[in-house]
Amino acid sequence: MFDLATIEKFREKETPFYHYDLELLRETLAEVKRLEQKYDFEVHYAVKANSNARILKEISRLGFGADCVSGNEIKASLENGFDSHKILFAGVGKSDKEIRYALDTEISAFNCESIQEIQVIEQIAAARNKQAEIAIRINPNVDAKTHKYITTGLDENKFGVNQAELSNVLEVVEQCPNIQLTGLHFHIGSQITDMNVFKGLCIRVNEIQHWFFDRGVQIKHLNLGGGLGIDYANPDVCRIPDFETYFAIFSEFLDIRHDQKIHFELGRSIIAQCGNLISRALYIKNGINTNFVILDAGMTELMRPALYQSYHQIDNLTSCKPDNNYDVVGPICESSDCFGKGVKLPTTERGDLIAIRSAGAYGEVMTSKYNLRDQNPPLYIE
Ligand code: LLP
Repeated sequence: MFDLATIEKFREKETPFYHYDLELLRETLAEVKRLEQKYDFEVHYAVKANSNARILKEISRLGFGADCVSGNEIKASLENGFDSHKILFAGVGKSDKEIRYALDTEISAFNCESIQEIQVIEQIAAARNKQAEIAIRINPNVDAKTHKYITTGLDENKFGVNQAELSNVLEVVEQCPNIQLTGLHFHIGSQITDMNVFKGLCIRVNEIQHWFFDRGVQIKHLNLGGGLGIDYANPDVCRIPDFETYFAIFSEFLDIRHDQKIHFELGRSIIAQCGNLISRALYIKNGINTNFVILDAGMTELMRPALYQSYHQIDNLTSCKPDNNYDVVGPICESSDCFGKGVKLPTTERGDLIAIRSAGAYGEVMTSKYNLRDQNPPLYIE
């Protein structure tokens, strides 16, 4: 919850805006760093989760790498302190312009998702007289048991190369003098809360990497992607995800060779609990079956509930009256613009401050221009 001094700061600002708790971010990063060192793993922050300059600076300060999915994410990472040699460029549809930019800025490696992409990188690298290191993103057909829109590792998903295509991939790589295949990349989905899923992933990765070893291909790094979920239902209790159990699973179940580096691309688990969307109740209105709290924040500021029916805890920060049930909605002309139905809140009045919790990941980055609404700057609290 928020202390009174923080709520006073909220009162002074025009709503809606994102609030970031930098102290919690630093505590979270310290825990990830401790475990990264303990296991000799390498964590790349998934910039797509939150590419805010202030947040990127906090993360790069500790020497983490960056996992980028666009030329502009690479640019933002370089501008905010990440070392180009620790930047990975992933994504199923890299443009020629982005590939040129990545080669010119000497990022560490490309995570490639198709044979044609490998051929295009080869052409562009050859024309610039550069060498490109690549990892192949393989679709391991492991069910992440999460929302279908954020599941990425099943045969039906567009991501990665299917296992049946691996022989062709090797043939193509052999014909590409400007490409070095050094790694394998896997990412099966996001907001994964069943830790057994990661054990299953390790077992599949072991099988796949043996396939490469049998063919004399050295795999210098294995990248296990991101995906560790957070507890949206208990943001005040589970402030820092269980990184200990997560990393221990990979250490125990993955066949790690002595010369291999293990990479991760964590996004949500690092930043989600550190951000909240702060808004004001504009109107309270009686419906036929329910009462509505109409906020000045909507799906334009936080799209997750509309897109994935996702749950975010909602707190009224300024009322301590007896509880009531409300549908908490935004001002946008879309019925999906709803943050929660039947939400129990202290009796809410016009002007009350409302916090939508755990919104640090895939919140601010997914805001839209719809309705040309004002975008207020975030508030960072140390
Ligand atoms: N690596 C790759 C290849 C990814 O596609 C992603 C996320 C990550 C790493 C980071 O995953 P994380 O640790 O954050 O789970 N907008 C959705 C989430 C989309 C995730 C996309 N990929 C949401 O709001 O739930």
